[in-house]
Amino acid sequence: MKKALPAIEGGEPVRKSFVPFALPSIGEKEIAEVVETLKSGWLTVGPRTKRFEEMVAGYIGVPRAAALSSCTAGLHLGMVVLGVEERDEVILPALNFVSGPNCAIHLGATPVLVDVDPETLNVTPEIVAAAITERTKIIVPVHFGGRPIDIDGIMEVARSRGVAVLGDAAHAMGADYGERRMGSVADATAFSFYVTKGITTGEGGILTSPNADLVERVGVLSLHGMSSGAWNRYSERGPWFYEVHEPGYKYNMTDLEAALGIHQMEKVDEFRDRREGIARLFDSGLRTEEAIRVPPWPDSGRHAWHLYPIQLRPELLKIDRDAFVRCLGDEGIGASVHFIPVHYHGYYSKRLDYGPGSFPVTEAFFERAVSLPIYPAMSDGDANDVVEAVRKLVDYYRK
Ligand SMILES: Cc1ncc(COP(=O)(O)O)c(C=O)c1O
Repeated sequence: MKKALPAIEGGEPVRKSFVPFALPSIGEKEIAEVVETLKSGWLTVGPRTKRFEEMVAGYIGVPRAAALSSCTAGLHLGMVVLGVEERDEVILPALNFVSGPNCAIHLGATPVLVDVDPETLNVTPEIVAAAITERTKIIVPVHFGGRPIDIDGIMEVARSRGVAVLGDAAHAMGADYGERRMGSVADATAFSFYVTKGITTGEGGILTSPNADLVERVGVLSLHGMSSGAWNRYSERGPWFYEVHEPGYKYNMTDLEAALGIHQMEKVDEFRDRREGIARLFDSGLRTEEAIRVPPWPDSGRHAWHLYPIQLRPELLKIDRDAFVRCLGDEGIGASVHFIPVHYHGYYSKRLDYGPGSFPVTEAFFERAVSLPIYPAMSDGDANDVVEAVRKLVDYYRK
């Protein structure tokens, strides 16, 4: 049978209208709440932020949560309250966004990068255990693409070696670990509400922890370190008074963002279920194609399916990853790549003592990975077109 000609070679594209790589799902309730907030006259941190924090804390199953301007703010403040200081070591996966490593650098600490498991693309207890030294202060595991990490195993290693765990759950809102939610087990966990994430506030993040005092301190640090604590309540001076006990940052969420978040949180499980449904469609459409690898389903817990990265098998294909992403674009499908390994970035290649070959799994994955679009606003038809475009290119470029 004659192979269908890819659009890049002059053939008919699979899609006439483009399927973007990511799109938020903003409903009428979110829009009305933002308008109400604007009319209320209270735009910055206030009652809606507090309500959003309570909703997230209730969902995760922790006493408190601190809403912030981003997940990066959560990672930074998480490192501060878990005691990261100059010359400490912070263990992070090399298959990572630069957020966590950058925060370690800002605190004068050294990011110690580790490779990931080839099956799950997450760090394992064994991988982190091998990297712990007497200078290690914390481990910052990433739930890559929303796949739950073995948090009990990592906590056990951390406890036995006297180090803390700060989960980078930027991708993992809605992920479960057995009966527990991600964000309720580690010493602290940071989530992202950036526009492409499981739920969105435009830009935003939150820090959760089973330790309410730690979250309280993060909340204070997110607003310059200003405290209106017990002393103030008995002060004669009035509500204008505040004190600063330690220098903080300006990392608070605003009520305008929380207005979106409140109604996004109402749909967090629905969104996660829809992402899971699309992952199933991809899985059944692509699993049997031997020239690519699809991401495996977790054995236990629930995947948040923020990303759906397939891996090309170069031994079976005449096309490399960059060209494949371009070809998908010409077929009308937006695709992306996650992540450029941390040690490949100019700054980190000079600052840290790693080079090509330091992290074989991360590096091989990066050469082959293509993240397909996956988000609740996609229809089954959109998802089937993604499958068709991938199969068309694989068929045409098969060796
Ligand atoms: C693994 C990881 N950590 C942290 C972040 C930072 O999130 P934010 O943009 O909310 O700061 C991202 C952003 O995509 C990420 O992918």
